[in-house]
Amino acid sequence: MHASYPALRLRRTRSADWSRRLHRETQLTPADLIWPMFVSEGDAEEPIASLPGVSRWPIAGIVERAREARALGIPCVALFPNTPHGLRSDDGREALNPDNLMCRAIRAIKEAVPEVGVLTDVALDPYTSHGHDGLVDAAGYVLNDATSDMLVQQAVVQADAGADIVAPSDMMDGRVGAIREALEGAGHANVQIMAYAAKYASAFYGPFRDAVGSRGLLKGDKKTYQMDPANAEEALREVALDLAEGADSVMVKPGLPYLDIVARVKAAFEVPVFAYQVSGEYAMIEAAAAAGAGDRDALVLETLMAFKRAGCSGVLTYHASHAARLLGA
Ligand code: PBG
Repeated sequence: MHASYPALRLRRTRSADWSRRLHRETQLTPADLIWPMFVSEGDAEEPIASLPGVSRWPIAGIVERAREARALGIPCVALFPNTPHGLRSDDGREALNPDNLMCRAIRAIKEAVPEVGVLTDVALDPYTSHGHDGLVDAAGYVLNDATSDMLVQQAVVQADAGADIVAPSDMMDGRVGAIREALEGAGHANVQIMAYAAKYASAFYGPFRDAVGSRGLLKGDKKTYQMDPANAEEALREVALDLAEGADSVMVKPGLPYLDIVARVKAAFEVPVFAYQVSGEYAMIEAAAAAGAGDRDALVLETLMAFKRAGCSGVLTYHASHAARLLGA
């Protein structure tokens, strides 16, 4: 006879697959995924070297991807344009052109696959010759209020083209309220705002900047507008402001290194929280798998589940279609 038994054996419920499924606290489904994709002019797929497995697609290809999203049960795609360099300028005015690449892609998707939500990035970096998200003064400082005026117009132009969710990713102060007011005034009461509320000045955005063609252009860094990775209380203040200004949901970005922020935001506000598993995170997983350091499929599903466990309503991930297939869609 054993001297003493554990009062409770937590391994008991783990002992068989049926039981593990029964006790699972968190579910991950294709409906949790937002699929970011890059659109380019021309008519050929363009693989992105620093983002292996991800390509820029011409509009026809983007529409195909949106069809794929629909078939896989992915509710929403996020669009980012690789604006031709000749159309980039100091003030990023191409962002306001109702016939720019972005708006044509939005219209094409909404025409062919209206059941799929379209999320658009509101920021000037794919349109500026200096790679910053806003207008810069002579000293290179990104101007807040003048930038915000541009972003308001950009958001309305995107909504006019059919965007379902506009997602300001620029981190200017006050832009969510200004965008909300303009959307209402322009007849877009049902267009949602997903605020990149806690967006950090991160080293994980490199491959994205390759994808939208801004890496080589970027002068300096984005530390005067994106957040310091050392700060968490400030993230709560950012979220509080964006919600007060009318954001429907908030985003934390990057993803995995900032799950503490996701959990704190969810606990403090009880609102829909999304996270962006950004390009550098995707590239790390791909590199680890390619180096034999881990199983790709398992890494993908474990990281995505972690976002859900931390409190996310959904995740923006370049692994979206692959994950949806693994989830048996
Ligand atoms: C730009 C923007 C960035 C990302 C999304 N929107 C890059 C940046 O802030 O420099 C990064 C996404 C990724 O790395 O996958 N407004």
